[in-house]
Amino acid sequence: MRESSRRRKQNVFDISDLNTRRRDWRHFIRWAKQRLNARSVFFLICAITLLVYSIVVVKEKIRRALRWVDPPPLYERYHRAELALPQHDTEHAFSQGQKYLWVNNHVSALGWGNYLEDLIMNAQIAYISGRAFVFDNYTWNRDNTEYSEYSGKLIPSQIPLSALISGPLVGGPFTAGDRTPLAVHKLYFDKICPNPTIIDTTPVRETINDENASALTILNTWVDFLRSIADPCVEISRYSSRIFDY
Ligand SMILES: *[C@@H]1O[C@H](CO)[C@@H](O)[C@H](O)[C@H]1NC(C)=O
Ligand SMILES: *[C@@H]1O[C@H](CO)[C@@H](O)[C@H](O)[C@H]1NC(C)=O
Repeated sequence: MRESSRRRKQNVFDISDLNTRRRDWRHFIRWAKQRLNARSVFFLICAITLLVYSIVVVKEKIRRALRWVDPPPLYERYHRAELALPQHDTEHAFSQGQKYLWVNNHVSALGWGNYLEDLIMNAQIAYISGRAFVFDNYTWNRDNTEYSEYSGKLIPSQIPLSALISGPLVGGPFTAGDRTPLAVHKLYFDKICPNPTIIDTTPVRETINDENASALTILNTWVDFLRSIADPCVEISRYSSRIFDY
């Protein structure tokens, strides 16, 4: 025990040695040679690597983690208000002969301009065919996550539509005397229509048979088609091409 501690003591480099012994560098080099064996060089490299890693990677991780401290809002109050719309009345969902149209292939991962365009056209088909339009969140990511990453930033995967617009598209009233059923939320539709008739858009597109058909022609064809369907619950298949393209 005493033996080993004495040996250790001999190995300790005392900075005062440099001064008192007139900067006897040979003394230092001898000390360094003793100390810097393969193991200490290995640990030195490890320490430097760790330092570089923490500066480069951990800094980025901290930066990413910090975004969660102040994430963008999810507008849940708007969502709750949407769910509380008076037309969401499961007991009277069909009592006035109401019919519904849920366009499940609405756009996603596109900007608000594209979404709104798609929304207005789909709601127009529902309105003219006399069906209640089923509205969904403005959806960037359809994977049911709360947040997505866009351009290195956190964004909401979905935003309740009423946080962005108001009026009949999100369940508001039509003009007085209009008996078209009011728009309902997608979650309400899921409740009242667990087994909707699912429509693929391709056969209807084929009956139009004109790639340059005007929006009015597409609209009228779809309205005629939807009016011929007795099922009050109709869903446009998520996996078919859109009714109106660009
Ligand atoms: C819509 O967004 C709200 C708020 O972020 C969320 O609670 C809800 O699950 C989303 N999905 C649907 C179908 O409403
Ligand atoms: C549709 O319009 C494009 C561009 O004007 C034209 O090149 C094409 O021939 C048209 N197709 C049909 C079936 O009329």
